[in-house]
Amino acid sequence: MMLKRLNHIAIALNNLDDGINIYKGIFGASISDRVALPEHGVTTIFVKLKNTNIELLEPLGKNSPISNFLIKNPSGGIHHLCYEVNDINKSIEKLKRKGYTVLGSGIPRKGAHGKPVIFLHPKQFIGTLIELEEVK
Ligand code: CO
Repeated sequence: MMLKRLNHIAIALNNLDDGINIYKGIFGASISDRVALPEHGVTTIFVKLKNTNIELLEPLGKNSPISNFLIKNPSGGIHHLCYEVNDINKSIEKLKRKGYTVLGSGIPRKGAHGKPVIFLHPKQFIGTLIELEEVK
């Protein structure tokens, strides 16, 4: 079994303030500080729930990977699911062996939690962009 916990569900939106208003203002959830991830072209906030987290994503910079998604979904929407794995390099090896493509360079990068992450293409995964994060 490659997958462990659901780490987070990510929602992309044009303005993080709208997400703060809803999750903190209306739902009363506790939220993290904003974290800018220029390497990923996004600014993130995490909404902390008991059983998982919600990652709110706002575009950062001109070539943000979520810009096209927001053109197609102007009011925002669910962008990806993040599952935890034990060993990201073993997971990549297994997926590649089975003919699946890891997005980008195929080499894990540091994600919002400072841990290695990769992304898998929605075309090969039932229309869902999947992020794998190594959590030991
Ligand atoms: Co994520």
